[in-house]
Amino acid sequence: MSSRDQFASKIGFIFAAAGSAIGLGAIWKFPYMAGTNGGSVFIFLFILCTVFIGLPILIAEFMIGRRGQKDPINSFKEQAPGKPWFMIGWLGQAATGLILSFYSVVGGWILSYIIRATSMSLTGNGVDFEALFTDIIANPVEVLIAQATFMLITLIIVQAGIKRGIEVASKWMMPLLFIFFILLFIRSVTLDGAIEGIKFMFVPDWSYLNAETFLLALGQAFFSLSVGVSAMITYASYLSQKEKIVSSAVNVAIMNIFISILAGLVIFPAVFALGYSPEQGPGLVFIMLPAVFEQVPFGGFFILIFFILLLFATITSSIALLEVVVSIGIGEKTNTRKRATWIYSTLIFMIGIPSALSFGVMSDFTIMEKSFFDFIDYITNSIMMPIGALLISLFAGFHYTKKISKEEFQSSPLLFKIWLTIVRYIAPIAIAVILIRSIFA
Ligand code: PFF
Repeated sequence: MSSRDQFASKIGFIFAAAGSAIGLGAIWKFPYMAGTNGGSVFIFLFILCTVFIGLPILIAEFMIGRRGQKDPINSFKEQAPGKPWFMIGWLGQAATGLILSFYSVVGGWILSYIIRATSMSLTGNGVDFEALFTDIIANPVEVLIAQATFMLITLIIVQAGIKRGIEVASKWMMPLLFIFFILLFIRSVTLDGAIEGIKFMFVPDWSYLNAETFLLALGQAFFSLSVGVSAMITYASYLSQKEKIVSSAVNVAIMNIFISILAGLVIFPAVFALGYSPEQGPGLVFIMLPAVFEQVPFGGFFILIFFILLLFATITSSIALLEVVVSIGIGEKTNTRKRATWIYSTLIFMIGIPSALSFGVMSDFTIMEKSFFDFIDYITNSIMMPIGALLISLFAGFHYTKKISKEEFQSSPLLFKIWLTIVRYIAPIAIAVILIRSIFA
């Protein structure tokens, strides 16, 4: 791909951006984070953080990228010559690389499930879904092969470039995934005892309202919107000047909230109806989905299709992650794209090895009392993303003159005022307070 390849259409861009956003964050992470952090309160804070902090910063990233029309580092350098803002790009490159290092592990788990689904071994009487999950993720050979395969798929698509690879894949897979989720939701909420799951999601238990939950919800909002690590700057750099960014960003945020809640509505009613605990952690979706499909006619077949769609949702996000690393890595030297893609992918795979082994042979290895997998998740999600988001917010709020940002905003003056107040004051202060409180708590 030449560096100035562009999206063929606005809807293509929205789907690609939504594809980058919607992935494991909404479908895998959101349910288990909600499950371990009190359900409703976490969900409420997540929506609050998405609308009032994540979305305005997403708009800021779209502005910076579209205005720059280059990779994040060069975009910042050109728009703020001689100033250190470009370091946001370095932070983004490090963060996306680290995220991909564990993201690919979970992507590998999905591949493992797909292989088992093809032999119909995910359904049928007497399968212990919890034991199955624990066995799969503890097997060092399987997780490493799966992770490497997942990285390889990501790499091949990123090499193919924006129009052919990313846009086409996103346009077809996302709508299909929506439809499937709605069908599953119907099955799940009609199970006996499902109402407890709905209550868990929507009736607040305020004892969970604290700085820690707030930080986790904020991190979840950033993670699932792909905000704070220059990913959306990178995508928007392929967007032409005539497209409206506010409506694109609103669309992405709404789809993301929608699919997160829907994932919750598939998982939690089933959790309670089938007698599982919501606090399963990272295994929640992998354990619950087969359990729900077991309740559906032809479940063995549908679960295969479902995991394939989930794989696509995951890949549309992993290619965004790799795209950031590669586009920053090569800068203007687009002729080195192919080689760089291979080198970075190999490096990311290697950094991910301890994460892949975190649930088996390396489970005793901890940093700050966290497994390697959890540690990388924590520093990227709870530290690097909020810091990146904070800086991006300040850049759009203060480095851009009001005239420039208004011109880029292209929407109603009232919305512009609200947006500007958020990126100048509300978002930076909220992020700083939450970060400091939770780090020193
Ligand atoms: N938003 C993706 C998800 O929810 O799965 C993860 C992600 C993709 C984070 C791209 C950051 C990023 F740059």
